[in-house]
Amino acid sequence: MAMRSSSDGYADVVMGLQHGDEGKGRFIDDLAVNYDWIARYNGGPNAGHTVEANGHKLALHQIPSGVNHPDKQLYIGSNCVVNLVKLCAEIDEVERAGLSVKDRLHISPKASLIQPSHIIEDMATMKDVGTTGNGIGVTYAHRSLRVEGNRQLDVQLSTLATDTEYAFGVIRRNLEIAKEKYDVSIDVEAMLNQLRLAFDRVKDCIDRRPDLLRGEIRKGMRILLEGAQAFGLDQTYGITPDITSSNTGVAAAFQSTAIPVDYKRYAYGVAKMIPTRVGHGPFVTEFGGRRSEEYCMEEGGKKYNKEYEKKTYGHRLNELFLSDDPLEQGIAIRIDGDEYGASTGRPRRPGILDLQQLKYAIDVNGLDGIYFTKGDKKNVFSRMKGKAITIATGYALNGLPIDYVPADKNELSRVKPVITNYEAFSDDISHVRDSHHLPPQLLEVLRDTQDRIACRIIAVGVGPRREQVVQLNGTLD
Ligand code: IMP
Repeated sequence: MAMRSSSDGYADVVMGLQHGDEGKGRFIDDLAVNYDWIARYNGGPNAGHTVEANGHKLALHQIPSGVNHPDKQLYIGSNCVVNLVKLCAEIDEVERAGLSVKDRLHISPKASLIQPSHIIEDMATMKDVGTTGNGIGVTYAHRSLRVEGNRQLDVQLSTLATDTEYAFGVIRRNLEIAKEKYDVSIDVEAMLNQLRLAFDRVKDCIDRRPDLLRGEIRKGMRILLEGAQAFGLDQTYGITPDITSSNTGVAAAFQSTAIPVDYKRYAYGVAKMIPTRVGHGPFVTEFGGRRSEEYCMEEGGKKYNKEYEKKTYGHRLNELFLSDDPLEQGIAIRIDGDEYGASTGRPRRPGILDLQQLKYAIDVNGLDGIYFTKGDKKNVFSRMKGKAITIATGYALNGLPIDYVPADKNELSRVKPVITNYEAFSDDISHVRDSHHLPPQLLEVLRDTQDRIACRIIAVGVGPRREQVVQLNGTLD
């Protein structure tokens, strides 16, 4: 192995620990000042994060979170899948906010192109999973499958950049076949033209070297590796088929960026104090269990969307909070916490904090610390009849405790959470910045959680704005 030198840089990782939407972006935004590069290592436009820049709210999907720091270099890794048309729309947004990605957005040539045919096939065949409809699974599947008969399925950006006409020939053929197979009425020429324009605009971002970041780290660069989706949706460790199609954890970060693993310094996770899930899939601690999943996924998540719920239930939240029906409590939590898909408006399914799942994610990824978001929303329990904060501190199967997270969907669906109750608090803590001013009840929850997960809790978010964070600085020790 090449010798490391003391002037070499290092790489840190930030990943989501539950089922996505943990709010990683705001921490990455803060951490970004300490790094030279911010690199996205998995997924594609199925991810979403909001970044504030020059008074503009940017809804980003593929561009890494550090974009609002003009001096940071940005990277999209080899195991990502890229929609170039959507990428251009994001670049437009960034430019509207007075920022630029010129000479600082770099994309691995090994990333795969999300072809228009992939999106058509995702929409036509993957409804049962409740995917984001971005062609993610089909693109990754075709990347693995490579060919069908004599037809090439996957197009990587290297081919698009170096053998453009050949690549467009492949894309055209795949699109014509998808059009016929799924009987969709689309204008093939218009779609190809749109893609060609997008490619022309971003082609200079496609780097020739798949190991660009390895070279950068040898030059002393400090790199932050940013995950998308989360461990609960991991291609390997999530519960198939209700997962995404990429690996989401720390090992995947190094695989995707060609950084040798011994350059790893720290790895952090982000978790929500009241976790949520969108799409189908098992969720042991969901308010309302399977009924909530079915309700939220009615008409693919479109029926009971944000607009519907706010109009129907917005005026009687207190009543819902006091209901004996956990499905109704969940609706109140969703409205109160504005828990709807950022781009789709789909209702997110809320649950109580699940420490068995969280510890699993922390242990498998060897994390050095975690950030919690939505600490302020922990006060919702004071609005419920039980007036106790409930947390799942273990799992039981057939009445007996188990010390693992089942790998099978059926087995996991039979797991019962073991609940521990903590004293509730009703304070609004959204203005708190000093950990000593947090309610003692929340500190007790955090202290006990830290002991149980055996991992340092670094900070807690107390509101959606970037500055609404309380650093714990040893308060729990
Ligand atoms: P896909 O990644 O679009 O194939 O969707 C697969 C599953 O992952 C679905 O349940 C999606 O709702 C979920 N998913 C994908 N990306 C995200 C995300 O960024 N946040 C939350 N859920 C996601």
